[in-house]
Amino acid sequence: MPDFPDDDSPIALSAYEELAERFAAQIDTKAENAYYERPATLSLLPDVKGMSVLDAGCGPGVYAEWLVSHGAEVLAVDVSPRMVECAKKRLGSKAEVRLNDLGKPLDFLDNESFDLILSALVLDYIRDWGRLFSEFHRILRHSGYLVFSVGHPFTDFLHIKRPDYFATEAVEVTWTSFSPPVTVPYFRRPLDEMINTIVKSGFTLDEVLEPEPSEELKRKCPRIRRGLSKLPGFICFRARKV
Ligand SMILES: C[S@@+](CC[C@H](N)C(=O)[O-])C[C@H]1O[C@@H](n2cnc3c(N)ncnc32)[C@H](O)[C@@H]1O
Repeated sequence: MPDFPDDDSPIALSAYEELAERFAAQIDTKAENAYYERPATLSLLPDVKGMSVLDAGCGPGVYAEWLVSHGAEVLAVDVSPRMVECAKKRLGSKAEVRLNDLGKPLDFLDNESFDLILSALVLDYIRDWGRLFSEFHRILRHSGYLVFSVGHPFTDFLHIKRPDYFATEAVEVTWTSFSPPVTVPYFRRPLDEMINTIVKSGFTLDEVLEPEPSEELKRKCPRIRRGLSKLPGFICFRARKV
């Protein structure tokens, strides 16, 4: 397992730099994303028409594209220059894409400037949720939405085989579905840390979703579907600024 980093450098930056183009090539059809995580996270969104939205950790820009096509104005940010290039290629002039580290203060963003922050499968790479969530709270308008998905803390704990559920720690996973495989470090944390950080940062928790496999996943990937119908791969949250 990787050492717990003693600085603020983005833990998964080099992994995503290595992965960017291959990730971008697969994102529309990769089963766990396209037919499992994405339908679940999208189901938590309000009507985004006319909203100003931050896509926090946009990757190749598939969520930003969806948001724009549903009438939102989108700023997409990501820490990986190669991912940012992929997102720019996908989005063209439809949305602004910027290189930024969510692990640092978001001082390039004004107070109360967004109606919605969407962050799909990104917060696993952020050590200090408290700092980021207070920034999210600052830049959201009153009653604004925060919708995000992360690895499910129980499933992660079972798979990663660590001795202490209660620890927040740096761990890693090797994604063999990419050729060659890529090892991606991330932070694992217990469920109470997730929920308490949301609530203590000034949000109310609206909904929590432990997704069950979609019909499309059942049809397209019965093997993946079997595992996910017994143990959720991800957990999705919708919170609101109060
Ligand atoms: C699993 S991908 C998800 C991409 C996109 N949200 C999606 O669901 O298609 C994780 C993304 O988080 C980005 N990321 C990781 N650490 C980050 C950080 N500290 N700041 C901003 N983005 C980060 C990675 O570069 C990568 O694009």
